[in-house]
Amino acid sequence: MPATVILGTQWGDEGKGKITDLYSKTADVVVRYQGGNNAGHTIVVDGERFALSLIPSGVLYPTVTPVIGNGTVIDPAVLIEEMDELSGRGIDPTRLRISANAHVIMPYHRKMDAILERFLGQQQIGTTKRGIGPAYVDKYSRSGIRIQDLFDPKIFREKLEVNLKDKNRQLQKVYNQLPLDIDEIYDEYLVYADRIQRYVTDTSLLIWQAIRDGQDVLFEGAQGTLLDIDHGTYPFVTSSNPTAGGATTGSGIGPRDIDTVIGVAKAYISRVGTGPFPTELHDEIGERLVEIGGEYGVVTGRRRRCGWLDGVALKYAARVNGLSEIALTKLDVLSHFDTLKIAIAYDSLGERYEEFPRQQRVLYDCAPVYEEHEGWSTDITAVREYDDLPKAAQRYVERVEELAGVPVTSVGVGPDREATLMRTG
Ligand code: IMP
Repeated sequence: MPATVILGTQWGDEGKGKITDLYSKTADVVVRYQGGNNAGHTIVVDGERFALSLIPSGVLYPTVTPVIGNGTVIDPAVLIEEMDELSGRGIDPTRLRISANAHVIMPYHRKMDAILERFLGQQQIGTTKRGIGPAYVDKYSRSGIRIQDLFDPKIFREKLEVNLKDKNRQLQKVYNQLPLDIDEIYDEYLVYADRIQRYVTDTSLLIWQAIRDGQDVLFEGAQGTLLDIDHGTYPFVTSSNPTAGGATTGSGIGPRDIDTVIGVAKAYISRVGTGPFPTELHDEIGERLVEIGGEYGVVTGRRRRCGWLDGVALKYAARVNGLSEIALTKLDVLSHFDTLKIAIAYDSLGERYEEFPRQQRVLYDCAPVYEEHEGWSTDITAVREYDDLPKAAQRYVERVEELAGVPVTSVGVGPDREATLMRTG
């Protein structure tokens, strides 16, 4: 593998955790490169369910060094809670390495996230309210607090003072809220600093050395291509770059160091939060996809909107990420339907679109042009070889790769670690 990126090709929740877990088995280093605790990875190990939001899922393997890269935003309270939860369940989290340059999510970020959503009313994005967007706003306005700042109490206090002056003014004058207390935040965050300091390092150098030493490095993207701040369905997106380019800027390595980009695609599609969704199903089929697929958020518990696989969006994801291959997940969920559909184009505002439209107005008006596929209507969760899948299921997989223009190299047929069929042909 040496350096492999695994990322979502849809609106997140494609089952990346399970694929990352599969590849982590042979990896030496697993890196999170963007986002924060807005993400949620569910991994089932020997029937035991692990839900991680910040720590890379590679932590479940004792030989892996999990890394949280510079492109992320870290809520230290959540990080510590996750580490404690892992140790409590017999998993050693002390191999974790954290970038000194990652940004810190502060209490005012969480507060602003919730308030801004409330003020947007009908136009709200449906964020996870974890403070992700406001933390990235401060990063780009160059007023953010980085992990390294927490270890110098004087600098931390100064930066906190400057930030709070501005945030409290906004909270009080614009949003009619009570101000936040500097001493409370300062004391709280110094305790966190003390807990995490020994894990903080120059992760760019660590990753570079690992690649130079011929180690296997995995870059784990959170969310998905259509939630990318640049390439997603803006403004209904997250505030970072889950696409492949984000793996380089978010971890401090160059593009030439990346060998493979694996795009994870669910056999259907889902979205949490608001925003355009051309293949969304508002009928009984959509309901059944939610229930059979267990489509409820790991982080917020929100019910996901569901629909048929969108081949137009998948082709787009293959392009903007330069995908080498696709990992198709949750094919077993489709076993419950007699007829399946895949969108191969959109009709919008009197025109047909075979490429993902750039204009929000066009995207909002899109009616999908579907092709129909015969279902297989048999349980495939016990299948362990690709060739043993029903022919109709194989045809579906082959059609996906044809539409994306990229080979499908693995197919998920159930939640267990073993339920992923590798495909080499
Ligand atoms: P934020 O990342 O909390 O700012 O939320 C922005 C948008 O991204 C909202 O529509 C969220 O529902 C969505 N989002 C954020 N993280 C995830 C994820 O891990 N899976 C799916 N959607 C997500």
